[in-house]
Amino acid sequence: MNVNFQKTILIVGGAGFIGSNFVHLIAEKYPQYRIIVLDALTYAGNLENLEDIQESLLFEKGDIADKNAVNRVFEKYRPELVVNFAAETHVDRSILGPQIFLETNVKGTHNLLEAAKNIGVERYVQVSTDEVYGDLGDCLPEEPLHYFTEKTPLDPNCPYAASKASADLFVRSYFETYGLPVLITRCTNNYGPFQYPEKLIPFFLFRAMRDEPLPVYGDGKNVRDWLYVKDHCEAIDLVLHKGRLGEVYNIGGHNEKTNLEITEILLEKLGKPKSLITFVEDRLAHDRRYAMDPTKMREELGWEPRHPFEEWIDETIEWYMKNQGWVERCAMRSEEFRKENYEGRG
Ligand code: NAD
Ligand code: TYD
Repeated sequence: MNVNFQKTILIVGGAGFIGSNFVHLIAEKYPQYRIIVLDALTYAGNLENLEDIQESLLFEKGDIADKNAVNRVFEKYRPELVVNFAAETHVDRSILGPQIFLETNVKGTHNLLEAAKNIGVERYVQVSTDEVYGDLGDCLPEEPLHYFTEKTPLDPNCPYAASKASADLFVRSYFETYGLPVLITRCTNNYGPFQYPEKLIPFFLFRAMRDEPLPVYGDGKNVRDWLYVKDHCEAIDLVLHKGRLGEVYNIGGHNEKTNLEITEILLEKLGKPKSLITFVEDRLAHDRRYAMDPTKMREELGWEPRHPFEEWIDETIEWYMKNQGWVERCAMRSEEFRKENYEGRG
């Protein structure tokens, strides 16, 4: 490992889906950075995701809800740059048990902000989500499509979204009150390698490969705006290095699809029958449509998504097919979760 590092970057939650993709990007693009990954390794965190670049980083296991653990890492490494991906991220879990979402997403973020203030970081990025804006609702065919902008009021509907919105408000308050150099990104749904197989795309791939029913919630017409994970990571890199302090940046690729469309695409690509689709009881407070207006990212930072859905969904499917061992190791825990909590859902 290089000993003359230019900067230290702390990537919190770097063993999860988006975090590990981001660690790969940073390791490749900034060999002059010392990379520290802080992660509690919950069911969603997996060191296998970082195996191929383990020589390029230092790993610290720790829970961000534990103030002492957070302070210890900040004091030990004194990072100039901090990017926070760590969170409880699954909406269904937040409906079944919101408490941990409050602990990790709100209290954990607050602990990071305090530690960042205490040591005086150069830049802190909070990775957030479109879900904080709430629901765009169904669009009537004669109406113009509307999108979330950075000025859309926060209007979260499920406990996950509420915890992320609360964290964002704390982040903002540390800028306004203490001048902490923060930035917030809010992205749409991601797809790509290393996504835990409880989320729609890897979950349905996993089930379809085994000819098991795919439980589509409600009428399947809820719309999500899908972005390849590497486009998201490139956007975060730009915000981290070039974004204006105190600002929010919305990230999305104008790639809206209903859940049913996604399901049918996956089945067709795997050569599996549509009869696997099973409509099940709707998710509580299930937002109808999310879609981002990413104009600010484009105009201020020159960001454009570079990975078209048609091509990268194929790459993603291939990755999950090639890495079934990875998926199965994750899914052992997911199956347990399904047995405990999803009885009767298909
Ligand atoms: P993930 O669930 O795959 O990974 C979360 C990571 O955080 C895991 O490595 C986990 O071990 C770690 N973690 C959880 N609790 C922790 C704690 N208390 N202390 C330390 N580490 C902890 O999540 P993801 O999909 O990679 O999402 C990363 C971030 O991006 C989240 O903040 C999420 O809200 C946001 N986001 C996700 C999406 C998406 O489509 N997945 C879209 C927009 C924004
Ligand atoms: P998910 O991947 O959980 O992401 P999010 O809730 O953060 O958007 O779900 C994406 C969409 O897919 C959402 O509208 C809920 C739906 N969905 C199903 O219909 N069935 C499922 O089994 C899952 C996991 C999700």
